[in-house]
Amino acid sequence: MADRTDIRFLLNGDEVSVSDVQATLTLLDYLRLEKRLTGTKEGCAEGDCGACTVLVGRLHQGQLHYETVNACIRFLASLNGCHVVTIEHLSGPNGRLHPVQEAMIEYHGSQCGFCTPGFVMSLYALWMENPKPTETQVETAVQGNLCRCTGYEPIVRAALAVNQYGSPANDHLNAERDTVTAQLTEIRQTARIVTGPDDDRAILPLNVADLAEVLAENPKATIVAGSTDVGLWVTKFMRPISPVVFISHLEELKTIEKTADALTIGAGVTYSESEDAIREAFPHLGEYWDRIAGWQVRNMGTIGGNVANGSPIGDTPPVLIAQGAEVTLQKAGGSRTLPIEDFFIDYGKQDREPGDFVASIRIPLAGEGQIDAAYKISKRRDEDISSVAAGFSVTVADGVITAARIAFGGMAATPKRAANAEAALVGQAWSAEAFEAAAIALAQDFTPLTDWRASSEYRLLVSQNLLRRFHLEHDDAQGQPARLAVA
Ligand code: FAD
Ligand code: FES
Ligand code: FES
Repeated sequence: MADRTDIRFLLNGDEVSVSDVQATLTLLDYLRLEKRLTGTKEGCAEGDCGACTVLVGRLHQGQLHYETVNACIRFLASLNGCHVVTIEHLSGPNGRLHPVQEAMIEYHGSQCGFCTPGFVMSLYALWMENPKPTETQVETAVQGNLCRCTGYEPIVRAALAVNQYGSPANDHLNAERDTVTAQLTEIRQTARIVTGPDDDRAILPLNVADLAEVLAENPKATIVAGSTDVGLWVTKFMRPISPVVFISHLEELKTIEKTADALTIGAGVTYSESEDAIREAFPHLGEYWDRIAGWQVRNMGTIGGNVANGSPIGDTPPVLIAQGAEVTLQKAGGSRTLPIEDFFIDYGKQDREPGDFVASIRIPLAGEGQIDAAYKISKRRDEDISSVAAGFSVTVADGVITAARIAFGGMAATPKRAANAEAALVGQAWSAEAFEAAAIALAQDFTPLTDWRASSEYRLLVSQNLLRRFHLEHDDAQGQPARLAVA
């Protein structure tokens, strides 16, 4: 079948087809500059402030699901077969305000109003999913929205009151669900899409087999999954990235499979999509997952992207290394699986051959006597990059430590195991002394950098203290673990 050259999607109430789409054209620029839908604002252009929040609806296993995304770092070409909903689509017949907007007015949730469309879209998504949220759920929903003048209390009060102004059952997105599902099914991709000029080319493979072929033909192409890293290469660094191979639409990369001994997550699964499975299989990662970016970025960003980018400060590599995870790389003609720690060779260098893509990540479930923990140290609790991230997995049998996997991010050029600290633990009795010895040994494992996030001394000390904390939190010698509540 011949390649298609246009991107088709629904924009509010209209079906749109755009030809010759530049790979690096952001959804925000398209909305504001081409469609003059200026209700969606631009604040930071890096996914941090939420002023550009819109809803994207897409079909997953035949079901239509809407989620918030940051239009500033989402590329238009990735939206084939989706429904984009902007703030302009919220008002009802005769311009009646939406229940979320009414609540924001009644509860004084807006002053200058610049952040307001973004907050309204985040609260709209929350209300559709959960019309009676708790305060904590509201806070989680607006982790990725920044307000400089109103202050968050009136916004949270408004969010808690939305349901007084209307029910999601009567909302027009819900009322139109069947129609939109039929329209999206009608415009779904049935051939490879190649669009845009030669120096800014976008390719959307039809399926995973086609992805392998596309990468064999274009081994230097930039793969884009959620674009929460790559988006910034474009908006902040103006880096040329053509040709771009988009993969976020590939359902085969979105599988989550749990067996008796492991959870296997497809490379295209986002943080939000994996949240329930992760919490269930690895309870210690539930709170940690919540602290990765904000809601919009978690709706877009993938675990595959976090691993593939090889960043020394990515949050998932240390915990995946500690759990003993493996990564499967695929290309035309075959696949190979390796321990995830071996994937990270050096700064900016991963064990990827031309044409390779990350297909999935397999995380073994905890064995008998295994104690797991994950820690993130950052300047802010929410929506912040780690200064240090750590994953610990220690196995204890009859009071003796029989195995230890201790991994850190932010401490070296790659996410890395602490071999000396692990050696200091294995074979020792579970005790404060053993962890003290491990904390001292840790100084041989790492010589961290000083940068604007943290000094070398701070990074080393906080990592040593995390070992001490791990022992305290899991030491039930006094009959109860000393887990400190999160403020
Ligand atoms: P993309 O941006 O699409 O790609 C990232 C890299 O991976 C690129 O090199 C791309 O070519 C490659 N790639 C993607 N998928 C594959 C694949 N299947 N095979 C081969 N290569 C592939 N990160 C954290 O760890 N913790 C945070 O708290 C955090 N907060 C953030 C907050 C904001 C506001 C933003 C914008 C980003 C944040 N990030 C954070 C970074 C980012 O969200 C993560 O690294 C995310 O997991 C990247 O996934 P993605 O799908 O968006 O990757
Ligand atoms: Fe700030 Fe998009 S403009 S998140
Ligand atoms: Fe002014 Fe939020 S109302 S930034």
